[in-house]
Amino acid sequence: MAQLGLGLAALGRPGYINLGHGVDLKHNHSIAAIRNNAFEVLNQAWDSGIRHFDVARSYGRAEEFISQWVRDRSISPQEITISSKWGYTYTAAWKVQTPEGVDHEVKRHELPVLQRQYAASFNHLGDHLKLYQIHSATEESGVLDNHDVLQFLDRIRQTGMTIGLSVSGPRQSKTIEKALTIKFNGERLFQSVQATWNLLERSAELALRNAHDLGLQVIIKESVANGRLTSRNQAPEFRSRKNQLNQLASRYQTTIDAISIAAALNQPWAGTVLSGATTAEQIVSNNSATTLQWDKELESQTSLIAEPPTDYWKSRSRLPWN
Ligand SMILES: NC(=O)c1ccc[n+]([C@@H]2O[C@H](COP(=O)([O-])OP(=O)(O)OC[C@H]3O[C@@H](n4cnc5c(N)ncnc54)[C@H](OP(=O)(O)O)[C@@H]3O)[C@@H](O)[C@H]2O)c1
Repeated sequence: MAQLGLGLAALGRPGYINLGHGVDLKHNHSIAAIRNNAFEVLNQAWDSGIRHFDVARSYGRAEEFISQWVRDRSISPQEITISSKWGYTYTAAWKVQTPEGVDHEVKRHELPVLQRQYAASFNHLGDHLKLYQIHSATEESGVLDNHDVLQFLDRIRQTGMTIGLSVSGPRQSKTIEKALTIKFNGERLFQSVQATWNLLERSAELALRNAHDLGLQVIIKESVANGRLTSRNQAPEFRSRKNQLNQLASRYQTTIDAISIAAALNQPWAGTVLSGATTAEQIVSNNSATTLQWDKELESQTSLIAEPPTDYWKSRSRLPWN
């Protein structure tokens, strides 16, 4: 079974797209309140046995928070894996809603951005940083054809850093396949891939299995579909699937989120599944997936609720920042 990790996309800034983000943060957006909440979730995660934490330059103050937290707790680099990403710049200026025409984060997969962001990530995280990823590589972003960027990543790899990429969108598989072909001196540049896989969006499965078989570490993100695979989802079009999941949850004395995360943890090609918990209670609930006995009944009942990838990503793009 894969291990559970914790991603800090929802913990480092006031705004995010997960369904009840604002409610979870009690709409208290002072830096101190957001830091305190992040530390509470980090402490609960650590106490639950979680040892992989995933951040990005664009997750507000996430890198700063986790670097302070590891220092406060005297956690050595040997005890923990921290991964980060470059490519998006945080532009929301600590606001939940940005003014019209201003994005929450701006994507630029160019060499000067990589150089600037790697220096900043390393400055915050030092030897605790073990994995550096391209943030949401896509075919359109052109990053996998940018020789200067790839060469610089290879130089970082030669310092002992693991190089990875995260992928998003309905064509995740194509991007993964392309990434697997990139080599320097006969060695694959990417040793890790982070992709969206959940009970609603399973389209990257074959590409991820292939990546795993070639020796890459596979990290699953968005395993509860940004909260859509939790009790919080009230969308009418999800009602019948929610009823089905609720029945399963009550039969197995667990929760919908635990079933969804257990489905990911039990994929034979998965190495790490990221929880995206915003509260300590959610970590406890998400972590109960690690003790849920996955069986054929769960496998077959949960295999029927996937959506066409284009529908899934369209719905995701409509999730409001809150
Ligand atoms: N492109 C990329 O590289 C990329 C993109 C996305 C994510 N990621 C990584 O993956 C991590 C996880 O992704 P994610 O947070 O976007 O998606 P996720 O894991 O699918 O969703 C997490 C959200 O689900 C809700 N949730 C979880 N357990 C719950 C429970 N028991 N009851 C009610 N709601 C619950 C919470 O949202 P509420 O606040 O609504 O309660 C939580 O923030 C991120 O932190 C990040 O590290 C990477």
